[in-house]
Amino acid sequence: MTDLTGRIALVTGASRGIGEASARALAAQGARVIVTDLAAPEALADEIGGLARAHDVTDEQSWIDTMAFARDTAGGLDILVNNAGLFLAKPLTETTLEDWRRLHSVNVEGVFLGCKHAVPLLAERANLWTGGTSIINLSSVAGLVGSPLVSCYNASKGAVRLFTKGVAVELAASRIRCNSIHPGIIETDMGRDLVSQFAAATGTGENDTRAAFSDRHPLGHFGVPQNIADAVTFLASDRAAFMTGSELVVDGGFTAS
Ligand SMILES: NC(=O)c1ccc[n+]([C@@H]2O[C@H](COP(=O)([O-])OP(=O)(O)OC[C@H]3O[C@@H](n4cnc5c(N)ncnc54)[C@H](O)[C@@H]3O)[C@@H](O)[C@H]2O)c1
Repeated sequence: MTDLTGRIALVTGASRGIGEASARALAAQGARVIVTDLAAPEALADEIGGLARAHDVTDEQSWIDTMAFARDTAGGLDILVNNAGLFLAKPLTETTLEDWRRLHSVNVEGVFLGCKHAVPLLAERANLWTGGTSIINLSSVAGLVGSPLVSCYNASKGAVRLFTKGVAVELAASRIRCNSIHPGIIETDMGRDLVSQFAAATGTGENDTRAAFSDRHPLGHFGVPQNIADAVTFLASDRAAFMTGSELVVDGGFTAS
């Protein structure tokens, strides 16, 4: 069981895809979930009995206000899922400094700000649970291995991987665990956009591009958001009480081959 009854969770980028599936899964395990995105995911919050907030993860004041909301309205925070992210496939020599900064502002700065501002709340409730409180950062297989056209995304997800380890070690004594998840390609808007961007950049048809990427996963297909939501609920729960600073790879064998 990954029973999360009594816990308060916050998921960023929760309007769709992996964030939405994670919010639903955390709520199904009994957590009260604050779902945030650029526009507040009100309908999702209503469906899962949670709370919705408009929240831009690149904006420090937005994090300060969201943490005040978690404290005042939900009663604190036990689980933070830093999920919001952007993808970009572009040849290195065509990648602008603006592209690099935009990607890093969401994928890296958003995760830094989230961890920084959540820690005081997570520390307050860490002694309530066997496994302490939990931060889960969405990295990627692209944070473990390089691929053509995604050096900028590789850099941002690699930063999340090692930032997670630094946070884990610094906060272990406070009983706050911090782990990263490394999905292979997942059937979401971003996963579909990845196929389109590669097809456009290489001049290959979308069907052939999709088939080639499916073949990169030894299990033979892309993952679904629920595969990652299962990893999120596990890391959030006391079943992962002895896991911190780890990389949970959920990739159909992508990085094993
Ligand atoms: N889908 C994949 O193949 C895949 C693979 C590996 C890792 N990931 C990672 O998983 C996470 C979720 O991916 P997804 O496929 O669900 O993506 P998605 O594009 O379907 O959803 C991302 C969500 O993040 C939100 N977002 C973007 N910028 C934001 C900002 N500044 N502030 C708040 N919210 C913002 C978007 O509005 C959107 O709802 C991302 O970090 C992504 O990099 C995805």
